[in-house]
Amino acid sequence: MVEILRTKAELRARVAEWKTAGDRVGVVPTMGALHQGHLSLVSAAGEACDRVIVTIFVNPKQFNTPEDLENYPRTEEDDARKLAGYPADVIYVPDPDQIYPDGFATNVSISGLTEVLCGAHRPGHFDGVATVVTKLFTQTCADMAFFGEKDFQQLQVVKRLAADLDLMIEVVGCPTIREEDGLAMSSRNLLLSDRSRIKAPVLNEVMEEMAEGLRQGGQASDLRAKAESRLNAAGFGEVEYIDLRACDDLSVLETPERPARLLAAVWLAGVRLIDNIAV
Ligand code: PAJ
Repeated sequence: MVEILRTKAELRARVAEWKTAGDRVGVVPTMGALHQGHLSLVSAAGEACDRVIVTIFVNPKQFNTPEDLENYPRTEEDDARKLAGYPADVIYVPDPDQIYPDGFATNVSISGLTEVLCGAHRPGHFDGVATVVTKLFTQTCADMAFFGEKDFQQLQVVKRLAADLDLMIEVVGCPTIREEDGLAMSSRNLLLSDRSRIKAPVLNEVMEEMAEGLRQGGQASDLRAKAESRLNAAGFGEVEYIDLRACDDLSVLETPERPARLLAAVWLAGVRLIDNIAV
């Protein structure tokens, strides 16, 4: 089994040994309930680094409701078992006070990028992400960090954060891993009922169709209306957004005149699904 550390003191001691030996250290931050998407990041880290730390911390600051935080799947033993076949050297599962000690009063907030898409629908979410990611970067002293394109906006926010604060870490984005039917893997998929699980891949189908329409010269606003009605007909609830955005600054585009991404957030029977694809 991969060793589990729960305090920053133990973690620092271990990383100090590695650094003395000249090892390059990678970190894969997660909230656990690990699936092939997370594990692909661990593999990427193993290829680029000598040592890999996987962090598991269900970060209360990035949840919008107490119910969502409470319902988030927690499967530490399974997670540790899954990591045994991957190049993880240490699993860092910090006790909550290792991240947010009494009196903790700092908030890391990024403007612009965090005000749109998920940021507009989940107030404070990206502040919570940026704050915990900053702490995980400084606690692990990692040279490289691996994030999934599945959370494309988060990836852009973390890159901005690392650049703006001169954090000595290289942020690497890795492709989205999908189920065979196209559904992007997500810990939240565990919350879908059997009926919802059957409907869920329609999101990716609709997005692929919309991307194809855009490539053929269609306008995002026209194609969005069609996509929304297809999703509603398939039994989805609220479509928070299904937007064409510029990859770098996430500004709104009508056509993919520069590198663009189609991003969506939709509700399916009480579960919020997000996905994005290159156009
Ligand atoms: P979590 O949702 O557990 O995701 C951890 C990492 O796995 C993120 O970088 C995410 O983009 C990546 N990931 C999730 N599903 C993926 C998939 N299907 N394919 C590829 N990568 C995937 O994102 C978070 O946790 C948190 O916000 C965190 C960064 C850990 C801060 O708390």
